Order: sequence, then structure tokens, then C-alpha cells
Amino acid sequence: MRTEQPERKGMRVLAVANQKGGVGKSTFGVHIAFRAAEQGYRVLLVDVDEGDISEVFPEVEEDDETPYLKSSQLFSGELNGQNPREVYEGISLIEADVEILDVDDMPLDVIMGLRESLTKFAADYDLCIIDTPPNLQRRMLGALTAADGVVTPFDISPFSLARMPKLLATVAGVQGEYNPNLRHLGFVANRVNSKSSNEVRALPELREAYGDMLFDEVVIARACISTALAQGHPVWHRARSGNQRLAAKEMRQACDEVLSRLGMN
Ligand SMILES: Nc1ncnc2c1ncn2[C@@H]1O[C@H](COP(=O)(O)OP(=O)(O)OP(=O)(O)O)[C@@H](O)[C@H]1O
Ligand SMILES: [Mg+2]
Repeated sequence: MRTEQPERKGMRVLAVANQKGGVGKSTFGVHIAFRAAEQGYRVLLVDVDEGDISEVFPEVEEDDETPYLKSSQLFSGELNGQNPREVYEGISLIEADVEILDVDDMPLDVIMGLRESLTKFAADYDLCIIDTPPNLQRRMLGALTAADGVVTPFDISPFSLARMPKLLATVAGVQGEYNPNLRHLGFVANRVNSKSSNEVRALPELREAYGDMLFDEVVIARACISTALAQGHPVWHRARSGNQRLAAKEMRQACDEVLSRLGMN
């Protein structure tokens, strides 16, 4: 349910990033979009990965021949007057196309294109969320260069934890070279196996190491999260079973914390 229109403060840009795959970047990106749209924000979702986000929303209707804007055009700057596609009340999408994959092979200055192109939508949206690929190449650097804030979902696997410092070094590099205004909003533990004593034990240790950078909110692994997205809605939509209600509460709280750290609520 949408609430009243919030006060407008200009478009904020959020990147969801972790160079590790399968940690919940797209899942979070979409849930944050639903949550912000419910709060009355106009949301622009940008997929610079490989199209996972598009799976959540309805396809372009058969008789709709509008040439909607695709994410490779944001990097090239060839917008041609094309626009994002509205896919849900309050959410518009710029889908990934095949050409987006070429961006990682282009000269480094391609990363500035995304930031530049997004400024053209600053009056039309309150929040832009960029879903990124699981590596530290051009598309991810472009997203960080365009962003005000970056949030990092992670899972508690040794591989994932070992990569956290590398991501922070990349963020620091982007802050120094391209985007002094970028803020790392924090790490949010996702897909946590509540039955694994190793995973449960790891959380207080991580809190010690990362302090406030680690969100208090934790999202436990629950199949209803992927089921909800496969059905085109957030996990809190018509949550009935105990599991659904717990997943809904955790995901909503985590999304609210992201929006709060971004200065939006
Ligand atoms: N809390 C959770 N509980 C259960 N399943 C989850 C949870 N979070 C994400 N998933 C599932 O885990 C898989 C990976 O999630 P997702 O695609 O969001 O990760 P990603 O980081 O975007 O991956 P990639 O790097 O490949 O783009 C998906 O099938 C998703 O539905
Ligand atoms: Mg993804």
C-alpha cells in the first residue's frame, strides 16, 4: 500500500554490490525498490548485471513496440530520447541488454557514462537503485561512481567474508578517484542458516570487526523469499505462514535500515 508522497530531496542513487555471486544483491535491490515505492517514492531500478531483475516483473506486452531504454545506453550516453519502462506502481526499470556485457572491455573512462546519464532522470525519480554484477570490473565501478551510497548483502561463507576487505578497498579507491561523495552504508547478512552454529557464532565476531558497518538486521535463509519474487511481489505481500511473516519482518527491517542510512526515512 502506498503512503502519502514524501518530501522530495532530489534523486538518491544506491548501488547494491558485492563481488561474490549469489549473496542476494538482486533480491535486496528489488525488495528495497518495493519498500521505497510503498512509501511513495518514485523508484528507478537499473540492472547493469544480466537481467535477473527483469524476471521479477512482467515482460513488455506483445503489442507494445516502445523502444525502452536499456542499461548499456546509460554507459554509452546514447539515450536517444528513450525512457525506462514502468513495471509496477512507482517502479520503473532500465533492463540489462546483451551490449551491457561489453562495458567491462571498454576503456576505463566508460565508468563515468552511467553517472552522467542518470543525472538526466534526477527530476523524475526519488531513488535510483543499481543492481551490479559479482565482480569489481567496469560495470561495478560505474555503479559506485554514480552512487551516493552502496550496501553490501553477504552470506556467511569463508569466501564471502574473505572478500569484504577487497570490496572496502574498491569503495575507498572510487571515493579517492571518482566519487568523493560515495558512502558505504554497511553489510547486511543474508541467507543466514539459523541452524548452523558456525554461522550464528560468526555474527558477533563480525560485529566486533565491523561495528556499525554490520546491520543489526539479519535475513535468515527462507525459500519463501525467492518464491515471492518469482510471483512478482515482495516477501511481505500477503505473508501468511509463520515463516513468511518472519521473512517479511526481517526483509522489511533490513530495507528500512538501508533507506534510513541513505537518508530517506
Ligand atoms: N534470504 C534468502 N533466503 C532464501 N533464498 C534467498 C535469500 N536471499 C536470496 N535468495 C536466493 O538466492 C539466490 C541468489 O540470490 P540473488 O540472485 O539475489 O543473488 P545475487 O547476489 O544477485 O547473485 P548474482 O551475483 O548471481 O547476481 C536466488 O535464487 C535468491 O532467490
Ligand atoms: Mg544478481
